[in-house]
Amino acid sequence: MTLCLNGAKILLGITGGIAAYKSAELCRELTKKGANVRVVMTKGATEFITPLSMQALSGNPVHIELLDSSAEAGMGHIELAKWPDLIVIAPATANFIARYSQGLADDLLGTLLLASTSRVALVPAMNQAMWLNPLTQRNINELLRIFQKNIDIWGPQNGEQACGDVGPGRMLEAKEICSNVEGLFSCKNPPVIGKGELFGKRVIITAGPTREAVDPVRYISNHSSGKMGYALAGACRDQGAEVVLISGPCYLDCPESVQRVSVISAIEMYETVMKELNLGCDIFIASAAVADYRPLHLSDKKIKKNGEADMSIALCQNPDIVASVASTPHKPFTVGFAAETNDLIKYAAGKLKKKNLDMIIANDVSNPSIGFNSEQNEVHVITKNDQIKLERKSKSNLSIEIVNLIIKHKLSAC
Ligand code: C5P
Repeated sequence: MTLCLNGAKILLGITGGIAAYKSAELCRELTKKGANVRVVMTKGATEFITPLSMQALSGNPVHIELLDSSAEAGMGHIELAKWPDLIVIAPATANFIARYSQGLADDLLGTLLLASTSRVALVPAMNQAMWLNPLTQRNINELLRIFQKNIDIWGPQNGEQACGDVGPGRMLEAKEICSNVEGLFSCKNPPVIGKGELFGKRVIITAGPTREAVDPVRYISNHSSGKMGYALAGACRDQGAEVVLISGPCYLDCPESVQRVSVISAIEMYETVMKELNLGCDIFIASAAVADYRPLHLSDKKIKKNGEADMSIALCQNPDIVASVASTPHKPFTVGFAAETNDLIKYAAGKLKKKNLDMIIANDVSNPSIGFNSEQNEVHVITKNDQIKLERKSKSNLSIEIVNLIIKHKLSAC
């Protein structure tokens, strides 16, 4: 059997109707196709089918209460709202549809739907008169009007109902719902499988060296290759973020689907960061090796030898970009780097505090096999209350781990 839903994260919402028994089969069908299913039940649903059955069939804990400390300790309701690629509500009762169309958030399922940006498929099930009632039709039309392409209404079918009535209101069979789900994931506009923990977030990353012009042909710079920043841009993109990479001069290809803005000097990098920050930023990662100083005077002509054995260039300080970002009123989650040759942890922890950062990545640049211009790196990730060593590995694997830590700390911060 092909696992055509392999990796799809599906939140199955079950509300309180007699058709809830079909949800057990639906859950089994979805998991058989490779989907990862998490079940949320309303109180009413638990009268028709037991949470224990749904837990056994989905292989995941079932979520019922909005304020349940043990469930929140596993996956909190906001985390749960961000988790799915698709939310399927089956059965969706008339009462639930009315409450959803009003945006009510007085139970777990209502709250999740309000907090989630995932696509929703509603599978109505109710008595035919209730379905045909203009109030229910108005509620369905309101949902379609508001959510447009982000909502699907599957069914109901015509037929005999549990109460003996005949008409529209029967919930689709599990196999049919499952094939609709498969159809969604293979259509032109599918829910994005694994859209990631940073979906909907805007991340700004600085990378590479800066060049500080001395005259038209000379500059002051450093050995940064930009590899770490570019790898972080790819890792954030893979978690679904919109990524803006503000890069000093380096010879790397821009990762796909990342917006690169190329700059040369620290002043240019500073101005670009501030401009992009105004367009919105949830996470700022400063991996650039920004020159701390620039020549005080930029000569517009090539400086000639003056015949003396010594010469000096007066320097002035560049703005500290990451500290400026961290001092803005709506500061994003701000991550800095500390490249040190000695007393790594002490200096890095000092910078974390002084620059008001949320996280600092410390690396030892006295070792040429890691850090500047090398393929690999090993770092210490330091936050106010935590310090973790990430062992030596490729910069791309390391950035996946760093981004996971950023997600963990950012989630616990909000
Ligand atoms: O103080 P130091 O230069 O060691 O701090 C390193 C951190 O600060 C890095 O995250 C670097 O990108 C950032 N930085 C900056 N602007 C500067 C200097 C450093 O954003 N002018």
